[in-house]
Amino acid sequence: MRVLLVGCGALGGAIAHGVTKMHGASLVVHDVDHAKAVKVARETLAPVVKTLEEGLAGADLVVEAASQAALKEIAPKVLGKGIPLVALSVGAFGDAPFLDAVTRLAQEKKTRILVPSGAIGGLDALRAAAEAGLDEVTLVTAKPPEGFGLHGVHEPRVLYEGPAREAVAKFPKNVNVAAALSLAGIGFERTQVRIVADPALKANTHTIVAKGAFGEMTCRVENRPSPENPASSHLASLAALALIRRFVSPVQVGT
Ligand SMILES: NC(=O)c1ccc[n+]([C@@H]2O[C@H](COP(=O)([O-])OP(=O)(O)OC[C@H]3O[C@@H](n4cnc5c(N)ncnc54)[C@H](O)[C@@H]3O)[C@@H](O)[C@H]2O)c1
Repeated sequence: MRVLLVGCGALGGAIAHGVTKMHGASLVVHDVDHAKAVKVARETLAPVVKTLEEGLAGADLVVEAASQAALKEIAPKVLGKGIPLVALSVGAFGDAPFLDAVTRLAQEKKTRILVPSGAIGGLDALRAAAEAGLDEVTLVTAKPPEGFGLHGVHEPRVLYEGPAREAVAKFPKNVNVAAALSLAGIGFERTQVRIVADPALKANTHTIVAKGAFGEMTCRVENRPSPENPASSHLASLAALALIRRFVSPVQVGT
């Protein structure tokens, strides 16, 4: 299975290292900043391509780890060739016309857009629960105040409470988790997000609370920073790798 990685920055680098160790996958790398692609290619011994078009020839799966603008640019080209796309810049799907257009294109070309769950857990149970209808879904993102550039905060402080649609615009650093949760559950308008600066915390935490016909669920993940990129959660690159492995593997476990 030939995997084309588009974007060789902090996240892409971590994904590249994981994919090269994955049985059944072979990696090709691309970045508009060719020097970045060459660096990752040297570390992983993967071939490098200068243009997206060159990379698409023979690709079985494309992994975008570049930017929202890049995702909007490459998605029609990738899906238009019938190639499945793993999208990491999930916040781009907050743009409803873009989401509609790429969904239609994927359907037309009989291919798929795959969105990893990032630094949150519980999307398997949430998706199962959604089959019977969900009444409410809330994401509580809590971080030490310094994570928001705040100092001298002695009590937990709610910085935002409202729909995911507005949260992704106001807190771009939390955009990917809020967007993945919205897509998996009840959409950007109905998903509620609460963002809290909590001085009692040492790590960033994401808690999902969902209620519906199935019952109630709470899933809390306490994230460690990525060894390659302290600004991002380690689980985010691991979630992308798990999704790629699921695609490459003949056996799929979990919902
Ligand atoms: N879904 C998740 O769990 C998750 C987690 C962390 C980051 N992200 C997202 O992944 C993306 C990458 O994050 P990062 O921290 O690696 O950023 P980064 O800035 O370290 O790396 C991005 C790389 O993409 C390259 N690039 C930009 N436009 C391109 C294009 N059109 N074609 C090819 N390459 C292009 C850049 O040159 C750069 O090397 C961001 O959108 C970020 O929000 C998603």
